[in-house]
Amino acid sequence: MTGSDVTSSDVLSSSAGGAPPPQPQPQPQRGLIPALLLVALAAALCLGLLLVNQSSQDPYTRSSLALHGDLERGTKLFLINCAGCHGIAAQGLVGPNLHGVSQRKRDPALIQQVVSGRTPPMPKFQPDPQTMADLLAYLHSLQ
Ligand code: HEC
Repeated sequence: MTGSDVTSSDVLSSSAGGAPPPQPQPQPQRGLIPALLLVALAAALCLGLLLVNQSSQDPYTRSSLALHGDLERGTKLFLINCAGCHGIAAQGLVGPNLHGVSQRKRDPALIQQVVSGRTPPMPKFQPDPQTMADLLAYLHSLQ
């Protein structure tokens, strides 16, 4: 029993006196996969932000969205310019029923619909930003 005591104290003293035992190296694979996932996530986030920004980054859309729309004026504008196709209560005629359209489409898409002329026979309108904001206020009021 005495012999074994001496051996264990020898091990302790040599360990305390010398350099600390080398730490095991962290395995590179362990950190690599989470790191890659993080990078992929960050890339996806950047791309998402870029796409979201792009749709509202065009200056016309941005300034239209920044303005407060006047519902009364929007209603008049609609009756004069749009009701011929969409109906006097936006119930649909040549063009579709617009009730609930602001729940189906986001504002930049509504603006594109009005200004792009991409879906004939709906013409390409060129309202100034305030007029666009007023029309949007009207479209929002259609529940
Ligand atoms: C000459 C007829 C015509 C006029 C005038 C017209 N539209 Fe349209 N509009 C259409 C048609 C047709 C569509 C369907 C286009 C498609 O998706 O193919 C449409 C689609 C839309 C949509 C998308 C509806 C949806 O469910 O996605 C909105 C919003 C809209 N019009 C708003 C307006 C506004 C605001 C005006 C007036 C500034 C206007 N329209 C004037 C014919 C017209």
